[in-house]
Amino acid sequence: MAKKIIAVDGPAASGKGTLARRLAAHFDYAYLDTGALYRAVALTVINNGQDPSDTSAAVTAARELDMAQLTVPDFARALRTTQTGLAASIVAAEPDVRAAILAAQRQFGQTPPDGKQGAILDGRDIGTVVCPNADKKLFITARAHVRAERRWKELVTQDARLTLASVLADVEARDARDTNRATAPMKQAEDAHLLDTSDLSIEEAFAAALALVDG
Ligand code: CDP
Repeated sequence: MAKKIIAVDGPAASGKGTLARRLAAHFDYAYLDTGALYRAVALTVINNGQDPSDTSAAVTAARELDMAQLTVPDFARALRTTQTGLAASIVAAEPDVRAAILAAQRQFGQTPPDGKQGAILDGRDIGTVVCPNADKKLFITARAHVRAERRWKELVTQDARLTLASVLADVEARDARDTNRATAPMKQAEDAHLLDTSDLSIEEAFAAALALVDG
């Protein structure tokens, strides 16, 4: 039987990760956070003392990406910082970086690990490029201020000096770069359902997402 695929796209801190994880738990599907792959490429470049805008360094890191690293606690923590997020959006604009990790993402959707009957992938281009034939597609968004505030609350527990204004600037810079890049820009697929979570609690957003997937 063909495996089910649910594509969840949207801008930074829109709540797509939380919703995708909860949907995966609900349906007992495998979950892939594709943003973590771009963050891992960027962090590897930074850890090697290289610059994220150094194309050949980024492409090498993408080709040699070791998924096992994603679960190493120190590496996983460093993935979440705003610095890594911004660097991720720089390496993600490079077509050869995207090409290097495309097959692994498609493979995850077509053959989910652990014998799961379906997969949920979240990112920017899942419904448009990675899994254009996904069974269901959601595009999760929220107003930039709301997204920045959510992300700031998440990150300030680890870095008390972080300001809301700097997180908002980061979110807006990434939105602009992700939307305007030539290769696989962030875009709502024509057949994706739009869900604005600005005025919804996590529970309300989950109920709305579930209704769209089940509908
Ligand atoms: O969690 P958050 O929404 O802040 O970002 P993320 O999903 O971890 O993605 C980090 C960056 O990776 C994004 O700003 C994009 O530039 C890039 N990305 C992408 O280009 N394509 C994807 N499918 C996922 C992420």
